[in-house]
Amino acid sequence: MMKRMLILVAALVLLCMPVLNASAQSTVDVIVSAGTTQAFKTDAVSEEDLTAILQAGLSAASAINQQPWHFAVITNQETMKEIGSSMSMGGMPAGAPAGMPNPPAGAPAGMTNPPAGAPEGMPKMPASSGAKAGLGDSPVAIVVYMNEGTASPDANFDCGLATQNMVIAANALGLGSKIVSAPTMALNGDKHDEICEKLGVDKAYKAVAVLLLGYADTDVDGATGASVRSSMDEKVSFSR
Ligand SMILES: Cc1cc2nc3c(=O)[nH]c(=O)nc-3n(C[C@H](O)[C@H](O)[C@H](O)COP(=O)(O)O)c2cc1C
Repeated sequence: MMKRMLILVAALVLLCMPVLNASAQSTVDVIVSAGTTQAFKTDAVSEEDLTAILQAGLSAASAINQQPWHFAVITNQETMKEIGSSMSMGGMPAGAPAGMPNPPAGAPAGMTNPPAGAPEGMPKMPASSGAKAGLGDSPVAIVVYMNEGTASPDANFDCGLATQNMVIAANALGLGSKIVSAPTMALNGDKHDEICEKLGVDKAYKAVAVLLLGYADTDVDGATGASVRSSMDEKVSFSR
C-alpha cells in the first residue's frame, strides 16, 4: 500500500514538472517584456490585486532585515492632484511628452529639458498633451517611503527592491506600472509633514519613489513598450 502511494506521489511530481517550468518561464517573460506604462485607464484596481501587490513589496529582502519601507496607498484622485499641484519646481509634470528627461534641479515649474543632442540654446519645452503619466494619471499611486533612522546601511536599495517586487507582481497580474521619482520633491518639500499626516505616515520617513498602478490604456500612443535596453556585451562580464 505504502509503495503504491509513493509511486503515485512520484508520478504526480513528474506530471507537474512541465507546469512548474512553464510558470517559471512565464515569470521571466513578465520581467523581460515589462515596459513602463505611460497612460492608464480609469478602471479601478481590485482590492485583491492591490493586496497581492503590497504583499509582494513587503516580501522584499532588506539589509539586516530592517524593512525600512512604508507604503502609502493613494486611490483618492483629489489627494493625488493636491500633491501633484504642490510640485513647485523641477520634476516631470504630468502630461509631459514621452521620452523627455527630467529638468535640472531649479528649473522653472512646468519646464522640461530639450531632448538629448538638441542644439545648444534650444528653449525649454513646456509640457505638451503627449502621453507621459505622472501623479494623478493612474487609479492607484503607492508612495514608497523610507525610514532613514533604521540601522540599514542600504535603505534606499531595499526600497528599490520592494518597489521592483511590486512592479513585477503588478505586471504578472496584467496591470501596468510606472515608477516616478519626480513627485518626491513635493512629498519631501515644505508640505512633507502635512502630507505624511494625511497619508498616515510617520514624519521620520521620506518619500523615495511613487509607483503608479492601473490598467494600461493601449489606445494611447506610447502607452506601453519598453525602451531599448543595453546588450549583454555592454553590461555584463563573466569571469569563468
Ligand atoms: C527610480 C526611477 C525613477 C523614475 N522617475 C521618473 C520620473 O520622475 N518621471 C518619469 O517620467 N519617469 C520616471 N521613471 C521612468 C523611467 O524613465 C523609465 O523606467 C525608463 O525610461 C525606462 O522606460 P521603459 O520601462 O518604458 O523602457 C523613473 C524610473 C525609475 C526606475
